[in-house]
Amino acid sequence: MTKRVKSFIDTEQLSNSDVEQLFSQAKKIKANFSETGQFVAPSQLNPVVALLFFEASTRTRFSFDIASRRIGGQTVLFDLGAKAGTSVAKGESLEDTFWTVHAMRPDVIVVRSGESLDMKALATKTQVPLLNAGFGTHSHPTQALLDMFTMLESYPSLESKNILFVGDVLHSRVAHSHMRLLPRFGANVGVAGPKEFQQGLPEATPTFSNLKDALAWADVCVCLRVQFERHEEAQSFSQQDFIDAFQVRKEHQPYFKPGALLFHPGPVNWGIEMSEDVKDMPQFCMWQQKENGVYVRAALLQWILSQNGRQV
Ligand code: CP
Repeated sequence: MTKRVKSFIDTEQLSNSDVEQLFSQAKKIKANFSETGQFVAPSQLNPVVALLFFEASTRTRFSFDIASRRIGGQTVLFDLGAKAGTSVAKGESLEDTFWTVHAMRPDVIVVRSGESLDMKALATKTQVPLLNAGFGTHSHPTQALLDMFTMLESYPSLESKNILFVGDVLHSRVAHSHMRLLPRFGANVGVAGPKEFQQGLPEATPTFSNLKDALAWADVCVCLRVQFERHEEAQSFSQQDFIDAFQVRKEHQPYFKPGALLFHPGPVNWGIEMSEDVKDMPQFCMWQQKENGVYVRAALLQWILSQNGRQV
């Protein structure tokens, strides 16, 4: 008999109360780590976590790897750079690679992929919990969760908070995941950037063509990487026009609301969506986002294991 397995593909699967419980666990882990250097209750299960990264990644890959080890697990890794050492170099498909690793029965499989691998279809068949670590331009739920966790370290609630995404919203799986998650917690999502990056936005999304007006609206400004690798050749995009109109620099500090935050999911094209001098701004939270990624992903690994009846 095939067992039913719970995977994690997008945040719609989590109720608001699940999200709150996840954050409460991540907060406990963070506090405990800061006091003792240990994560809360390392798993007795010693989970084996397979990391299948079919697209490039530093932040997500390392933070899942570190989170897995910190909760007492071990990792096995397929990364883009290791392709030459796997049978993908002999023409094996990514889907066959997934099922090959799946057959070896790790406890969790974490997958980063483009649209060529149908992660949603895999999730209906897998016998090992599958965790989405970034899926094409569609979703990056763990980034959305860690960003929201980081926002909640500064704001007690996101009710009526204005979250601004600046730049390449069209190609951003991070922004797309946020647009589904943040409004559930009462936040308003707005965007600023060139018109060609504003296709397919949810109805009534506040849009800004002037960066200063946008910053004056925002409680959190999330700059997004311009994803040159996803641009169609025909796409009309002027890098210089973008820099002139939408690059965030330290000189914009006076336009930020008191207490406002500046985020970037990374990696950053320094000199394009942000200038390096923003690192000196008190609003700049990027390193806090990276750190929190480990706690939130550790909590999510524990959650997925417990959802599948494993002792954590
Ligand atoms: N933010 C993010 O997903 O970064 P990586 O691509 O380095 O994982």
